[in-house]
Amino acid sequence: MDEQAEREVSATELRTDSEFDAGLRPRSLGEFVGQPRVCEQLELVLRGAKGRGATPDHILLSGPPGLGKTSLAMIIAAEMGAAIRVTSGPALERAGDLAAMLSNLVEGDVLFIDEIHRIARPAEEMLYLAMEDFRVDVVVGKGPGATSIPLDVAPFTLVGATTRSGSLTGPLRDRFGFTAHMEFYETDELVRVLRRAAGIFGIALREDAATEIAGRSRGTPRIANRLLRRVRDYAEVRSDGVITVDIARAALAVYDVDELGFDRLDRAVLSALVRGFGGGPVGVSTLAVAVGEEPATVEEVCEPFLVRAGMMARTPRGRVATAAAWHHLGLTPPAGAMNAGFGVRSRDAITESLFEDL
Ligand SMILES: Nc1ncnc2c1ncn2[C@@H]1O[C@H](COP(=O)(O)OP(=O)(O)OP(=O)(O)O)[C@@H](O)[C@H]1O
Ligand SMILES: [Mg+2]
Repeated sequence: MDEQAEREVSATELRTDSEFDAGLRPRSLGEFVGQPRVCEQLELVLRGAKGRGATPDHILLSGPPGLGKTSLAMIIAAEMGAAIRVTSGPALERAGDLAAMLSNLVEGDVLFIDEIHRIARPAEEMLYLAMEDFRVDVVVGKGPGATSIPLDVAPFTLVGATTRSGSLTGPLRDRFGFTAHMEFYETDELVRVLRRAAGIFGIALREDAATEIAGRSRGTPRIANRLLRRVRDYAEVRSDGVITVDIARAALAVYDVDELGFDRLDRAVLSALVRGFGGGPVGVSTLAVAVGEEPATVEEVCEPFLVRAGMMARTPRGRVATAAAWHHLGLTPPAGAMNAGFGVRSRDAITESLFEDL
């Protein structure tokens, strides 16, 4: 355990849940668990730039929520020894807001734009020029008298994060020199995430309990850490604080997290798809209304995982339940129910196909 981690152990009692999360953010590529392909690619991009004494190309981080995009953005800045300025697509409603940020950048800075797919059009167009030519045109005045004043922007690295790279416009996507596709984590990787968290916060977590929690974490480190907090509560209140596999199972049952890691919403979506719509095909907004959720939540949070778990397929006509979904709900699939066939497809292929057409 490094010094940083040790300092955090002593402060355990004072931490709220969100501080718990912040304290767990990996701070270097070496500390970042999993995503070996992304890490290798990123290391090359950063080292190459460092060797040339240049600022790295603009980087797009794409993948479902909670897989470590924000963490990676901070790591990129840290590895480059650069300052990071943080904003988000929805915050950049007016081009002027972006112009102000851009003109304040210092050479080598990292500008992190979270949810970059939600950036407003005028700001996006300003970004094109800034990314390509390190320049912005600031329009002064209105109507026929308006003039545009070109301003230089210091060479910077834009790091964009998105849960739906498919909604990025072509011109914006093309201006990134490298796109990192974040994948759902494997169980053994999540076990490492959990072990790390338990170490940092001094939680007694048995190995088989870690595997149990990891297996129900929807391939997502943020969820793994959250489940660990809930299981810790249970262990401390109902037992002696040690997290054994039995404690983990009992706690997860209390919180309605099933063996596959599906939560209430996942199950509601599956059940609506199978019971309400005969297995589909059904449109995502119809499905969202049926479960009383925002279409974006169903699409960006539930769906990627249900597809990954082989329960749902996205077809041009709508969402379809696979035979596995019927079985999971204890029902017999109708003849001709879709077989996910995920056994023959690689994890990468699944994740890539997920984001291509979003
Ligand atoms: N590779 C990792 N190793 C260890 N912990 C991780 C890793 N990735 C994520 N985490 C943990 O998960 C939490 C969520 O990660 P992060 O905020 O970076 O995700 P995100 O992809 O930005 O999510 P969102 O799309 O919701 O913004 C972090 O606080 C961190 O504790
Ligand atoms: Mg984030």
